[in-house]
Formats: sequence, C-alpha cells, structure tokens
Amino acid sequence: MTQRTALVTGGTGGIGSAIVRYLARQGHRVATNYRNADKAEAWRKAMAAEGIEVCMVSGDVSDPASCTALIRAIEAECGPVEILVNNAGITRDTTFHKMSYEQWTDVVNTNLNACFNVTRPVIEGMRARKWGRIVQISSINGQKGQYGQANYAAAKAGMHGFTISLAQENAKFGITVNTVSPGYVATDMVMAVPEEVRAKIEAQIPVGRLGKPEEIAHAVAFLTGEETGWMTGANLAINGGQYMGW
Ligand code: CAA
Repeated sequence: MTQRTALVTGGTGGIGSAIVRYLARQGHRVATNYRNADKAEAWRKAMAAEGIEVCMVSGDVSDPASCTALIRAIEAECGPVEILVNNAGITRDTTFHKMSYEQWTDVVNTNLNACFNVTRPVIEGMRARKWGRIVQISSINGQKGQYGQANYAAAKAGMHGFTISLAQENAKFGITVNTVSPGYVATDMVMAVPEEVRAKIEAQIPVGRLGKPEEIAHAVAFLTGEETGWMTGANLAINGGQYMGW
C-alpha cells in the first residue's frame, strides 16, 4: 500500500479515535488536532501503548487562523495532507424555541464552518499533486432531522452540500470527496442523550443496537483507499437501518 499523510480532525473523540486507529493500522501517518492539552496527552499515551504514534497539533477547527497554523504545523512534521477526514463535531441539543444564538453558532462553526477552515489550506496542495481523499463525517440527523437538533441537523446537512460541490470541482484533479453519515454510535456524545430518550431511539434501529466506532472507521478506510478513485460525491449512510432514505 502507498503510505499517505492523513489528518483526522477531532481524532481524540469516539469515532475519531477509531478512524485514527484504522488509518494508522493501514500504515498511514496520522495527525489530529486537539484543544485540551491534558486530555490530548492522556489520549496520545493510550494510543502509543497500542503502538500507534499520532502527530498531534493544538488547533481549533472553528477558527480559520488556527486552522491555517494547524495545517502548516502538520505539514512541517508529517508532510502534505493527502487524506483529510473532517470529523470534529459537537452537539448543543435543545428545542429551537429555546435555542440561544451561541448554541446555534457554536455548532455551525465547529461542525460546518470547520470544513471550510480545514479544507481550504489543504485543497491547493492536493490539486497540485493530483491526488486527494476528503471525507466529511456528517450524521443520520443531517438526512432526517432530529427533534432538539435544528443547529446540528442544519450543519450536518450542509456538510453534504459541501461534499457534492467540492467533488465536482476537484474530480479532474484525482481528488474524491465523500460523506459518511453515521447513525447512533456508542460514543460519549450519544451516551449524553438522556437514557429514556436514548432507549426510544435505540428501539428504532432495525439492527437492534447502537453502532460501533470501528464500523464507521471501516467505511472511512474504504473511501480513502487507493482503489476508491471512482466514487465521489457519495453519501454512505451507516445507521443500522434506522434511516433508509436516499
Ligand atoms: N418527537 C416528538 N416529540 C418529542 C420528541 C420527538 N422525537 N422528543 C421529545 N419530544 C417531546 C416530549 O415528549 C415532551 O413533550 P411534552 O412536553 O408534551 O411532555 C417535549 O418534547 C419535551 O420538550 P422540551 O422542549 O421540554 O424538551 P427538553 O428541553 O426536555 O429536551 C431534548 C429536549 C434536549 C431535545 C431531548 O429530548 C433530547 O436530548 N433529545 C435527543 C436529541 C438527540 O437525538 N440528540 C442526538 C445526540 S447524538 C448525535 O447527535 C450523534 C449523531 O449524529 C446521531
């Protein structure tokens, strides 16, 4: 296999960690950003104990200047970013009539504007080298909407709009751009949903359980592979059958 440099934003999180692990085990050099230095150091040590060395750089994906510096630092340490997984994301769930402007903008900045902030400093190099793989980690709730998530669903739906435009603009440069839309995966983010609400959601999943982070990472590895050069602008819905719209 060809060793590539991969940046997974939010790599220290639930799905992010699984993606980092999967790409590293495939032989890629993997980098991620972090905001909380103590949490990041504990995570780095845990990955190192598994034999995975991750290039870690401080950076806030919601801040364009921070992202420019982040990409420069990663490229200096690990080489040009050839695989980019826009994975960092947050929730600020509340019904819209109670939602503050801050709850709206925090989610839109971190989940959607981050796609601009991180991808913009990377895309020119990918175009010049005529190879790239970009994956947005969206959500089932960007496809179907979700009670209490007007901010999150809007941002996640926007991510796929970003994917299909970038896919068209960059296809002739050997760059594929795709979306993965996970359903409810057993991560801290999903476990933070009140138990009685979560139980009702789980009951709507035909496969009968929450997803595993590795099941999302597996799809990302597929989309970022050398062989996956003819699949672009797609959305892979991985949700245990909870939403089968197309
Ligand atoms: N459909 C219809 N009604 C609903 C509903 C639904 N899906 N969910 C809640 N309600 C109703 C309740 O029955 C209740 O009705 P009554 O007032 O008549 O009893 C009412 O809404 C409660 O409304 P409130 O405005 O008082 O809501 P709240 O402030 O107590 O909490 C909430 C609302 C924060 C949205 C809470 O329901 C919640 O956390 N829901 C889960 C949201 C969710 O799925 N988040 C996903 C997080 S994980 C993630 O995002 C990862 C991913 O990509 C999948």
